[in-house]
Parts: sequence; structure tokens; C-alpha cells
Amino acid sequence: MTDFSSVKDKVAIITGAADGLGEAIAQCYAENGMKIVISDVNVDKGNKVVEQIKSTGGEAIFVKADVSKEEDVKKMINVAVETYGRLDGLVNNAGIAAPNRPTHEYSVDEFDKVTSVDLKGVFLGMKFGIEAILKSKSTGGFIINIASLAGLLGNSSMGLYTSSKHGVVGLTKSAALDYAPHNITVNAICPGTFRTSIWGEAPEELVQQYAKMLSPNERLGDPKEIGHLALFLASDLARYISGAAISIDAGSSAGKLTPAKWSNPEILD
Ligand SMILES: NC(=O)c1ccc[n+]([C@@H]2O[C@H](COP(=O)([O-])OP(=O)(O)OC[C@H]3O[C@@H](n4cnc5c(N)ncnc54)[C@H](O)[C@@H]3O)[C@@H](O)[C@H]2O)c1
Repeated sequence: MTDFSSVKDKVAIITGAADGLGEAIAQCYAENGMKIVISDVNVDKGNKVVEQIKSTGGEAIFVKADVSKEEDVKKMINVAVETYGRLDGLVNNAGIAAPNRPTHEYSVDEFDKVTSVDLKGVFLGMKFGIEAILKSKSTGGFIINIASLAGLLGNSSMGLYTSSKHGVVGLTKSAALDYAPHNITVNAICPGTFRTSIWGEAPEELVQQYAKMLSPNERLGDPKEIGHLALFLASDLARYISGAAISIDAGSSAGKLTPAKWSNPEILD
């Protein structure tokens, strides 16, 4: 039987963990005995996640931090180390969507806003998080950066988000080489289309239409599926995996879907 007990008592910070994929990762880590720092800008939701984890016997604290601000990120790392005495891992998950439009129509302010959270936020987490993991002399240190399929492929009308997520994959691969000698793995998870509040108020019908268009199995991903992958990457079972940008997308990034007519001989006749 596969044994995930190597994660027990590991200390990990998850940014943007008050909701969505970050919350699912936090729940999965806590269920498996990890000590979790939930970090987010949303204090109410963050505290609720902590309460929920504690009510089921898990260990977690909340730290308010905006990942785009250096002082906040330093504080987040310091509180984690002061509370639990060490840091083993960091999941750089916090991210924001950008408006969809062609590149020349974006404003410079929009570029700065998206890049400051989606790319600079990951850099800051890695900079100060890796420093703390090195000081902790963790034998199983890990960094997981939540990128996107947009970190692997171009996307029309999504230049800002796409460029930041490509940057996250670049940081991940470079850091994997830097820290392999220190036994710290650095990987990126590249989700396809998952049902979280990043979809905002989009009506159900529209979301389902997107699922059919974007996912070969025609369903949106369940955030728990990201939690399971993040758990594996945090465990000692994955110590030989580093520098990987792992897509989790029902095959979306594997290639183009063939139009239905190619598999329907009657149309070809
Ligand atoms: N949901 C998807 O389909 C999908 C697909 C690909 C990639 N992603 C990526 O996954 C990550 C999580 O997305 P999600 O869908 O769970 O989004 P979400 O909006 O449900 O949750 C994001 C969380 O991040 C927090 N946050 C936003 N800005 C922050 C900041 N500056 N500092 C700290 N916290 C901040 C929010 O308060 C929120 O709790 C993001 O990086 C996103 O780009 C999501």
C-alpha cells in the first residue's frame, strides 16, 4: 500500500489558501498530519479554513499576507518559523485572473497588477521561503508553484496571465537546478479548468459550456484532485521529481482535439 506518512509533522505554508485550490491543498495536507500556515488577503475566509481544519483534529494557523508585498511575505515566513520552529515546504498558490483582451489593449497598470501577484508573488515566496527551508535543514524540503496550462501554452486574449504563468514555470525549472544539491524539490502544477471562485459570477450554463470546450472529458476539475497531486509532491515518494511542470487537465495540453467529422466516416463520404 502506498504510504504518505512521510508528510506527517512537515510544516508548510500555502498562499491563497482561504479559498479554491489553495484551500483544497490545505485540507488535504492537514488530513495527512501536516502543520499548515494558511495565508491569504481574505482574513474571514482564512480564519474559517483554520477553524474547519482544527475542528477535524488538524493543526493550522492563519497569517494575513499579500504575496505581492515583500514585507508581508517576510512576515508570513517568520510567523511560520516562530510558531512551528521550522519550515519544510511552501505552496505558492495565490493568483489572480486578468481581463481577456489582445496585448495592445492592456494598460500598463493592468500589467503591473497581474504580474505583481502572479509572478512577483511567486518569486517573493520562493526567495524568503527557500531561505527558511535551508535554515531549517529540512531533509525533505519542497516548493510547489501553482502555474496553469497558461504556463505551458499560448492563449489568445490572455497575454498577461499567460506571460506571468510562463514566468512561474521558468522560475520553477531554474530553482530546481539551484536547490537539488540541498535536497529541496521545486515543481510546478499546471491546472486545466477547475471549478473555483476564480470563475467569479459566471452562470453555471456558461461554465459547463467552457468545460465542454476546454476539457477532453467535458468536466471541470475538482480542487481535491489538485490537493492529491500536491500531497504526493510534498511526500518522500516524490523526492526524485524536481523541475517538472505537471499538467493536471484531463489531457487538454496533450494536443489538439480532432474535429468530430474525422471520426465519423459518413461525413467524409
Ligand atoms: N481554477 C482554475 O481553473 C485554475 C486554472 C489554472 C490555474 N489556476 C491557478 O490556481 C491558483 C488558485 O486559483 P483558484 O482558482 O483557487 O482561485 P480563487 O480565486 O478561488 O482563490 C485564490 C485565493 O488567492 C487569494 N489571493 C488573491 N490575491 C492575493 C494576494 N495578492 N495575496 C494573497 N492571497 C491572494 C484570494 O483571496 C483567494 O482566497 C491561482 O494561481 C490560479 O492562477 C487556477
